[in-house]
Amino acid sequence: MYTQAMDTGPKEERKAVRSAEEAQLEERFEARIDEGAFIEAKDWMPEHYRKTLVRQISQHAHSEIVGMLPEGNWVTRAPTLKRKAILLAKIQDEGGHGLYLYAAAETLGTSRDQMIAALHGGRAKYSSIFNYPTLSWADIGVIGWLVDGAAIMNQVPLTRCSYAPYARAMVRICREESFHQRQGFDALLVMMRDGTDAQREMVQDAVNRWWWPSLMMFGPPDGESTHSTQSMRWGIKRISNDDLRQKFVDATVEQAKVLGVTMPDPLLKWNAERGHHDFGPIAWDEFWQVVGGHGPCNKERLAARVKAWEDGAWVREAAMAHARKQALKEQAA
Ligand SMILES: [Fe+2]
Ligand SMILES: [Fe+2]
Repeated sequence: MYTQAMDTGPKEERKAVRSAEEAQLEERFEARIDEGAFIEAKDWMPEHYRKTLVRQISQHAHSEIVGMLPEGNWVTRAPTLKRKAILLAKIQDEGGHGLYLYAAAETLGTSRDQMIAALHGGRAKYSSIFNYPTLSWADIGVIGWLVDGAAIMNQVPLTRCSYAPYARAMVRICREESFHQRQGFDALLVMMRDGTDAQREMVQDAVNRWWWPSLMMFGPPDGESTHSTQSMRWGIKRISNDDLRQKFVDATVEQAKVLGVTMPDPLLKWNAERGHHDFGPIAWDEFWQVVGGHGPCNKERLAARVKAWEDGAWVREAAMAHARKQALKEQAA
């Protein structure tokens, strides 16, 4: 037997052959990355590249899905029909983003069920920003402006990610995210320009609570970011955490002036020499607390996701039964 014979050589010899072959494949892969080529699902890739992408894309998908929860909390309390329709559309988009991303991660050989089991079992992470509560209507505007704004900053470079299915998903997602950012800014602008003093205070209070967590969305400082160097090398990540954070600060400071709100940072000021804004130190202890599961809403968010999954079991079962029936019908025809 040809295949069996291939498999029965001395162990070391087999290992050596495999690793020589693998080294060649890896060399070819690295060369393609250096040329700026895109990697497709069926192309050979190192195991570590695959694992890094599954971790990143599934975390991203979970963030989209969990991110629906703080906003869903305000659908029934939106101040006007127009705002309710916009909010519903935005939340629905986020659900769609989750689905594209789960599909992109599935091309790497991990099933959606496995990814969801990891989320529900507390083994997978999602963006920590969604572990903060939405206390007022202004929080919904601020989430659009700052949280979706930070997401865009993070995600636009991902449209050039070396893994093509992820890059393609990001093109569409980024278009929708820019609508999310604008609707948030618009909701805040209406309150700041035409609202009462109480509404303006509500906006400022929301900015005070969301500003620092938004800056944390870019991840730990470059020096402490464990996965960054390899991800940059592989073209998964194109711009460093600190550079993205700086771009975000520079852009939002100008937008805050238009709104007439101030950022809760006395050290925030223009530095002509650097050509950027300086800003105060970030409370990384708080970030690690929230990442570690001890934020204000971690337990509530996860419990809501698990309940939604369990409550939706009958829908999945009905859909599967329907698909089986359809397949039988097609076979008989
Ligand atoms: Fe999204
Ligand atoms: Fe969004």
